[in-house]
Amino acid sequence: MRHLITGGAGFIGSHLAEHLVSGGDEVFVIDDLSTGRVEHLRSLRDHPRFTLATQPLLSGGLLRERAEWADCIHHLAAVVGIRRRLQNPLEALRVNLRGTAAVLDAAGEGGTRVLLASTGEVYGKSAARLLTEEEDLVLGPTTRGSWGFAASRILDELEALAWHEERRLPVTVVRLFNTTGPRQRALHGGVLPTFVRQAIAGEPLTVHGNGAQVRTFACVREVVACWDRLAATPQSVGEVYNLGSDDEVSIRDLATLVTEVVRSSSTIETVPHAAVYPAGYEEAPRRVPSLTKLEGEIGLRPVAPIRRIVEGLVAHERQRVEA
Ligand SMILES: NC(=O)c1ccc[n+]([C@@H]2O[C@H](COP(=O)([O-])OP(=O)(O)OC[C@H]3O[C@@H](n4cnc5c(N)ncnc54)[C@H](O)[C@@H]3O)[C@@H](O)[C@H]2O)c1
Repeated sequence: MRHLITGGAGFIGSHLAEHLVSGGDEVFVIDDLSTGRVEHLRSLRDHPRFTLATQPLLSGGLLRERAEWADCIHHLAAVVGIRRRLQNPLEALRVNLRGTAAVLDAAGEGGTRVLLASTGEVYGKSAARLLTEEEDLVLGPTTRGSWGFAASRILDELEALAWHEERRLPVTVVRLFNTTGPRQRALHGGVLPTFVRQAIAGEPLTVHGNGAQVRTFACVREVVACWDRLAATPQSVGEVYNLGSDDEVSIRDLATLVTEVVRSSSTIETVPHAAVYPAGYEEAPRRVPSLTKLEGEIGLRPVAPIRRIVEGLVAHERQRVEA
């Protein structure tokens, strides 16, 4: 099969590219390297079934050309990272909304299969203990910048589902929850790589807010295996799925776990949101996905427990620092 991955030089996209090529498929990546890196794709550089085009999604006719060539488009390109999104809200909205519209238009010409990466952030401030795909999406006012990203991803989802409804385009929406593993960059707000880096360096671990917020973290290799299975499942067309882990942990407990695994004497410091983010930043107290629909459809879900994920990240970071 032939795959086009937008954002394929990024964290998740590069793991997906490796997974698909190792399965015997052909992969073409379009990535502007805004947060992605060529080094992420080092293992595929000279592979005959792999090509990387380093350019913005919306420049020239490459997207249309490659959408026609592909059997499946995996749309992962987006402006990510809390700080970058809050500091450049216009860029974030434009890339996310226009990028997705362009991908769907290009796919629509030949009826190409699309998997659209959305995010668990679309659930906003929902108080549900377990977020099912049918849960209401609860956002705050537009004057608070933190909701713009979630709103743009909701519109992306609606556009994709409308393409399916009206034009029978075979799309699947995948709401990714925190995913972690090698190549994730602390720079763009990934909490776990930040904690691991701080603990190894013997610096204080900085918890934003009071640390009571509950999250889950899934292993990237398990996430791309589930993603690929969804792409190959005809029943997933026209549907929305959560994809992540349901092994929940508070951010404060996560910081403690990282110091234990690293055997670090680092302290844990709480920093008020106002000290790190622009005014008006709001954060969901809890975000834990229900994975029942995913597992029911593909017989698979990410299962790695948080301790094993942290151990893997610490080992990887130590190797990287020593190299
Ligand atoms: N990592 C997570 O925990 C997580 C959680 C929820 C949702 N997601 C979603 O998964 C997708 C991939 O995220 P990631 O963590 O791998 O982030 P990432 O930043 O590593 O990947 C995004 C990639 O898109 C590229 N890109 C951005 N704008 C582009 C443009 N205009 N043209 C071409 N390329 C462009 C970047 O260079 C980067 O390589 C994103 O859509 C993100 O919102 C990720």
